[in-house]
Amino acid sequence: MSDKLLAIETSCDETAAAVVDADLRVHASVVHSQVDLHAELGGVVPEAASREHALRIMPVVRRALEDAGSELGDMSAVAVTRGPGLPGCLAVGVTAAKGLALSRDIPVVGVNHLEGHLFSVELGEREVAYPAVVLLVSGGHCMLVHAAERGQYELLGQTRDDSPGEAYDKVARELGLGYPGGPVIDRLAADGEDVYDFPRPLLDDGLDFSFSGLKTAVRRRLDAAGDDVPVADFAASFAAACMDVLIAKLKRAIAERQPRSAVVVGGVAASPILRRRLDAELEGVELILPSMRYATDNAAMIGAAGWWRLEHGGPSALDFAVATRLPLAGTR
Ligand code: KG4
Ligand code: ZN
Repeated sequence: MSDKLLAIETSCDETAAAVVDADLRVHASVVHSQVDLHAELGGVVPEAASREHALRIMPVVRRALEDAGSELGDMSAVAVTRGPGLPGCLAVGVTAAKGLALSRDIPVVGVNHLEGHLFSVELGEREVAYPAVVLLVSGGHCMLVHAAERGQYELLGQTRDDSPGEAYDKVARELGLGYPGGPVIDRLAADGEDVYDFPRPLLDDGLDFSFSGLKTAVRRRLDAAGDDVPVADFAASFAAACMDVLIAKLKRAIAERQPRSAVVVGGVAASPILRRRLDAELEGVELILPSMRYATDNAAMIGAAGWWRLEHGGPSALDFAVATRLPLAGTR
């Protein structure tokens, strides 16, 4: 038996497969993004997303195995995202994973997508020094976690409404910039200035987040601006408000917990604005970021978390169900 596993991720709008070995080296990582499809529809449409996953999953798996120079029979397990995510989308990945595992009589392990993001930093060259404070910011989630050691999590705070990624996407839609919002807003923000002084919700208050008020403030300003919208300044002001909050909360958690490292993961960790500011503003703690390709959704991070779960609890029962809502703790 080889020391490689096949990993599958279909929780939202990326159909992804990867081959990862037990030392967390990535032998292949294929991501088929549905961005074009959803850009046309103005956001992720769950029905369309599941249909697209169903069409793409097997070609994406075949391609990952090919890129790794492997065959399914060489794999020692199949790891798959079981939640949280869109139910129809998760079902496509989990069904495929179970079928593939059954066909070769190899174990399957269900992985929590959020834990996958946490493991995205384990795919690099650098070891994470524990205890760590982790900021996870994606399209669906925003949370601060204390990890006393690998795989051991305590939730410190989370968003009470939207995630920043979601706010980015909605603001981009208001500005007519298409989907997804993160990359394009960040690009435009480089040519603008923070002139609008948007609210920084809950800035001085604990470790929870709230972004819906910020989103509404942007929309009101936009309505007031009429046809002549200074898009770059809007983008810069919005991004500055988001990042101010994220960084202030992360700093507060670091001050409270005194960790050895600060880890920032999830799609928004791909933001050059956030990465630059973290580099400049965090002091006295080692900053660890995923490489750009593993910040947004991918299957390699699911493979890394899958190895961990296999080693600490073994395979999942073959009849495990998808879980559209799944907390980070109790991740199986
Ligand atoms: O982690 P992810 O790929 O999917 C979820 O698990 O949700 O995160 C996707 C989110 C999207 O909302 C997207 O707008 C945001 O990450 N994102 C960014 C950037 N790239 C992606 N946000 C800010 N700046 C970026 N460069
Ligand atoms: Zn994600």
